[in-house]
Amino acid sequence: MTLLDQRVLPLSESYRQYHDAPGVADAIRQMVVRGAPAIGITAAYGVVLAARQHFANTSKTWRESLAADIKLLAQSRPTAVNLFWALERMQRVLNENTDTSVLDALLHEALAIHDEDIAANFSMGEYGAGLISGQGSVLTHCNTGSLATGGYGTALGVIRSAYRQEKITEVFADETRPWLQGARLTAWELVKDKIPVRLLAEGAAASLMRSERPGWVIVGADRIAANGDVANKIGTYSLAVLARQHGVNFMVVAPTSTVDMSIASGEDIPIEYRDEQELLQLGGNRIAAEGAHAWNPVFDVTPAGLIDAIVTERGVILQPDNDRLLKHFSE
Ligand code: MRU
Repeated sequence: MTLLDQRVLPLSESYRQYHDAPGVADAIRQMVVRGAPAIGITAAYGVVLAARQHFANTSKTWRESLAADIKLLAQSRPTAVNLFWALERMQRVLNENTDTSVLDALLHEALAIHDEDIAANFSMGEYGAGLISGQGSVLTHCNTGSLATGGYGTALGVIRSAYRQEKITEVFADETRPWLQGARLTAWELVKDKIPVRLLAEGAAASLMRSERPGWVIVGADRIAANGDVANKIGTYSLAVLARQHGVNFMVVAPTSTVDMSIASGEDIPIEYRDEQELLQLGGNRIAAEGAHAWNPVFDVTPAGLIDAIVTERGVILQPDNDRLLKHFSE
């Protein structure tokens, strides 16, 4: 499997090869590939690689070796539920295919997960753009584009569709400390698409809302609980609070593979904490005072009450809550 190394974008477009599940799990953990749907898709292909490898090497006990690899993939990152959702789909295919056709069936499933995500992105693009009226700027956070998904994007997909419909004049993108997904990846994707983009430090968001009056904040999600609480990149919650204060609309765009109806509220969503060096250093060089430590949660939870709309490939949930999410899934 070939992955574009997102850690070195936009300075270098470098591709890395992966041949086994431990390598793929490491690529996810180290952020070579990131973004909830992209993590799920990558893990699904990781299962295909692992199955082929173990089937060829140890054909009698290959299922046990594969189970260990699936466990490894599941441990790569904790918050994005798409990872576990994709691995469960692969596991189901494994359970249902007991003959040699299993390898083809696994590849077929991984390709389906990938294709379905792209199709979901395009649907969400249309539904989300439909919510935007008039013409104006929007604010986004982190990277939710082609790099973070099967292709096109969740929040960035809505932005792409709405820009094409001439509803968006300009995109403001948070630089998104500490990994700078906004500055490095979102800006890269938007510049390639010739969509005007201006970066801001997260701390400038309140002033931006007061002076530039964006119509919407549009973000993605890593896990949505049954009551509509949303876990997404750290800083999303602050944006939602600021948006409410300034009368700016707040939209979350995520496929149904990001919704975890088994989790009652955001309080139960596992939040990933990463190495403090990610904050203390920049580009491998220490920037913080020697002796200082860092607190580095990389996701936060936005309460459903601060969200105006959740957009999935099935449609729009306005003012999300328990009943509306249940209704969305039963339709
Ligand atoms: O740590 P990352 O870069 O994987 O975090 C990504 C995000 O938080 C995205 O907003 C989310 O996964 C949605 S991507 C379509």
